[in-house]
Amino acid sequence: MSDPQNDTNLATSANPADERRAQLAALIPDAFTEGKLDVAALKRALGEAAVIESGERYALTWAGKANAYKVLQTPSTATLRPERDKSVNFDDAQHVFIEGENLEVLKVLQKAYFGKVKLIYIDPPYNTGSDSFIYPDRFQESKEDYLRRLNELDDDGTLMREGFFRKNSKENGHYHSNWLSMMLPRLYIARNLLREDGVIFVSCDDNEVHNLRGVMNEVFGEENFIAQMVWEGASKNTADQIGVNHEYVLVFARFRSSVPKVWALAKDGVAPILREVERLKLQHGDDFDAASNDLAAWYRANKATPSFANRRFRYIDKNGVYKEDDPTAPGGRKFKLINPKTGAEIPLRANRGWAFDQVEFSKLVEQQRISFISSISIMVRRYLHETDTLTPQSVFYQPARSASERLEKFLGGSFFDYPKDDEVIRQFVEMATDSNDESCIAMDFFAGSATTSHAVLEQNSRDGGQRRFVAIQLPEPVEDETIQKAGFSTIADIARARISKAIQHIASKADLATPPQLGLGFKSFRLTPSNFKQWRGDFIDTPEQLAEQIQLFAKGEKEDAQVEDMFYELLLKFGQELTTPVETLEVEDGKVFAIHERKMLFVLESFAEAMIDPLVAMKPREIIVIDGVFQDSDMLKSNLDLQCRDAGIRFTCI
Ligand SMILES: C[S@@+](CC[C@H](N)C(=O)[O-])C[C@H]1O[C@@H](n2cnc3c(N)ncnc32)[C@H](O)[C@@H]1O
Repeated sequence: MSDPQNDTNLATSANPADERRAQLAALIPDAFTEGKLDVAALKRALGEAAVIESGERYALTWAGKANAYKVLQTPSTATLRPERDKSVNFDDAQHVFIEGENLEVLKVLQKAYFGKVKLIYIDPPYNTGSDSFIYPDRFQESKEDYLRRLNELDDDGTLMREGFFRKNSKENGHYHSNWLSMMLPRLYIARNLLREDGVIFVSCDDNEVHNLRGVMNEVFGEENFIAQMVWEGASKNTADQIGVNHEYVLVFARFRSSVPKVWALAKDGVAPILREVERLKLQHGDDFDAASNDLAAWYRANKATPSFANRRFRYIDKNGVYKEDDPTAPGGRKFKLINPKTGAEIPLRANRGWAFDQVEFSKLVEQQRISFISSISIMVRRYLHETDTLTPQSVFYQPARSASERLEKFLGGSFFDYPKDDEVIRQFVEMATDSNDESCIAMDFFAGSATTSHAVLEQNSRDGGQRRFVAIQLPEPVEDETIQKAGFSTIADIARARISKAIQHIASKADLATPPQLGLGFKSFRLTPSNFKQWRGDFIDTPEQLAEQIQLFAKGEKEDAQVEDMFYELLLKFGQELTTPVETLEVEDGKVFAIHERKMLFVLESFAEAMIDPLVAMKPREIIVIDGVFQDSDMLKSNLDLQCRDAGIRFTCI
């Protein structure tokens, strides 16, 4: 978690350009003078040979690219409002669902989630010619007007009324440009959110794969490219020339050198066997014959599962579960193999050779990895846990139909067209994250029916991981009447319903082998205008500037601002994650929100003189109070300020 004490940039949705400038200044301080970039000094620092002066160059460019960068750099004045009634287990939940336009949401999240996300999977509109998405294509419109429209959210945070969410048809003169202008700022912030060892997977097809690769090279750097995966689907016999039955997933790292060298996928059906073996070892102790017999019975009871294909692994010893393998092969080594225990030679069958040399063999005997069937016949023990993974491959097959059918069955109706296959996304989660990584966050900001959230929950339930998801989805209206009748007005409603069901399902399957997941539930938020009267975040860098800005308004919060809404807005502005554990304290009849073991206190509802001593006695590092609670009593405010100064507590009045 970021340290609020060292966090000086308080009230903004962080500006990506500022972050990069700071990084460059840290790397090449001599290229900056009085906080500004000195291009000549930068050239000197890099060496003239590394600089392109003018003329032809390799570049990806499109109509509106400069505008897309400007859009990216404008801070958001929106916030996220908690919606308890749309959440599951709100107070303890470790997962987050956000209803809103993703670029605005990403900007709002940027400060609190900067460098914290381990994996991002997105499945953006492919730009097929009939896709709708949000793009700035009114080139005659000034940047200011565009941004004003973008920031003036409807009350429900949708932006729909302004006509931003539109079909981008192939006839549109800026067909590719619009798509690239939509993708660039979102990818840029996505990169900022990724941890050093973070990775991003982006689905697309032939419509834009060439442009996507170009823009990702620009944003992430070509050196961070990991793979262009080919996802093969069902064959198509209806095409004119060639049936295109595949799409792509581009995989990039934030820093490729920080990503683990080896990624692996568990072989299907192996995890339940390993869990059962652990259970049998606990039950039977050293009686490995009894454990092996019970394991054989377990395989018979699980004939219909993928585990059954591994039934040759049916013997248990102290090292694990193994199968007996022939230690010879046609091309193996031919020599006189000696049993190190008896000194006798072990005969070799005709036309075969040994799979090891004498030294390796003696070591295997010592490790009890050789079974002596008789004094002259041996088998080698191959353990399941040593052969239980596969290296993910860049080409894989998974037809779309099965995912649609599974989702329809799961939700009890056909509510969402073309969901991605949750099993494939689960494998992305499995290969690129670690079950022991307690701070793993997986994000999807084109969530659709929430396949990624489902996949994260499923992977956690398989390997006991505590990965958390953040899903973002536009409240795109549902047109189909049958779907509306089923109670869904928007795709966000469908996504929430799926996550709730997945949570119920996983909670109901928890048993000894798969213990309950911590924080199983999700906090639902909605993008809304700020609770405060216009944050001018663009020039606020210090608490003093923040306070000064707030002074411009007699009362910073809006008349109808709800206390919990303001609290979550401030959490984000102070760089704290939405799932930060919160304590609600009663202090002398006043309500106080406390986080980080009471090191940070928020007073947002009411304040009285009697609260000062108990608050100071808690020895927080920081107390944040909204001005309205002092009810125009400067005396009360200065008393609190003075006592905080005396106790070395940072006091911020908002
Ligand atoms: C192709 S679908 C994703 C499907 C998803 N992978 C699944 O398996 O269900 C893309 C989704 O992104 C949403 N979307 C498009 N533009 C968006 C935006 N600017 N902000 C948030 N969501 C957006 C659309 O509403 C749509 O549901």
